[in-house]
Amino acid sequence: MCGTEKARVVKSSSSSAGLDHSETRENGTTLSSHSVINLDHGDPTMFEAYWQRMGDKCTVVIPGSQSLSYFSNMKNLCWFLEPELEESIKRVHHVVGNAVTKDHHVVVGTGSTQLFQAALYALSPSDALEPISVVCAIPYYSSYAAVTDFLRSGLYKWGGDAHAFDKDGAYIELITSPNNPDGNTRDAIVKRGGGKLVHDLAYYWPQFTPITKPADHDIMLFTVSKSTGHAGSRIGWALVKDKDVAKKMTKFIELNTIGVSKESQLRAAKVLGVIADSCQSCDTPDSDNVFEYGKLIMSERWNKLRDVVGQSDMFSLPEYAKEYCNFMGKFTESYPAFAWMKCNRNIEDCAELLRGQKIITRSGERFGADSKHVRVSMVSKDEEFNLFIERLLAIQETSNEYHI
Ligand SMILES: Cc1ncc(COP(=O)(O)O)c(C=O)c1O
Repeated sequence: MCGTEKARVVKSSSSSAGLDHSETRENGTTLSSHSVINLDHGDPTMFEAYWQRMGDKCTVVIPGSQSLSYFSNMKNLCWFLEPELEESIKRVHHVVGNAVTKDHHVVVGTGSTQLFQAALYALSPSDALEPISVVCAIPYYSSYAAVTDFLRSGLYKWGGDAHAFDKDGAYIELITSPNNPDGNTRDAIVKRGGGKLVHDLAYYWPQFTPITKPADHDIMLFTVSKSTGHAGSRIGWALVKDKDVAKKMTKFIELNTIGVSKESQLRAAKVLGVIADSCQSCDTPDSDNVFEYGKLIMSERWNKLRDVVGQSDMFSLPEYAKEYCNFMGKFTESYPAFAWMKCNRNIEDCAELLRGQKIITRSGERFGADSKHVRVSMVSKDEEFNLFIERLLAIQETSNEYHI
């Protein structure tokens, strides 16, 4: 594979990173110095510029007569999974080398959010007197707690920080690697008998982290939201080893939404197929490979952010070790989709400080951590990111005015 054989260098494209704010303003930006910039969600609009450049490569035309049936393939355990999507998923994992698909069943979901709930249902004992505890080490992805307890299920309930979990018996542990919000690579924490593990690998793609080995776990969750930026298509997939667990997850989705939109599946199949082709073809310019492109933008953004943060001791950021990325064929750094930023000195509420400068972030408290931390999306559009950097610089330059 070309990707692993040569160290690829991508030149910065003018339509992407590297634009300063004044340039974007000339290009018709809608943001001004009064605008609120919302970096609370991990909305992957950063990828729009790339897909605009790809033009019609991923255009999918669906005639009115196509895809009327509920069913996709009755011979498949996951009967609503479109065969083209299954093939593209397997191909893309094979060329990227980030997950083992052999001996795993593919279950498609309406985003990995639905698959997360399907996994909780499938892993919960049906005859237990008490709901099974669902745990994750702090800081954890804020939706886990909210989704787990939303319907007050009798099957499972949120058990909080995996480090503090001290109950005997069965439990479900969520392992997000790289982690949202802090970008760290993770392993299971509790490591006791009766533990059932769900690996959420939404960010285990080369633009965010070095691909060190193909992941091979019992349940692995992936999504196009973070891999290709197509969050709006709402397509996620689970790779599931155990047939009965895969069947139960499929049952959950059957009862929840009677399958998953075929239009979305066909679009995701096309996008993932084009990506797999571009990774396999030696003729593809590096800037046309979504992972190379994504990594370039992420590295430029992280470098800018580290430059600004390094100008004072007001904020700090995590450091990540370089590791050998089998996909890139060289040692690379992690450039997480979120910055897990800490306010130092005597600032107790970092989100509030930033809100005062019209920057909306998510407080560390939402992740089971403290309010000195915030999570900042690094995958917004250029103009939002550049305005964020400008404002962060201004905060530091005028920090005396804030009496901090
Ligand atoms: C760790 C993690 N898992 C899952 C999701 C949700 O993915 P989807 O859009 O496929 O529902 C997110 C979204 O931010 C995430 O950060």
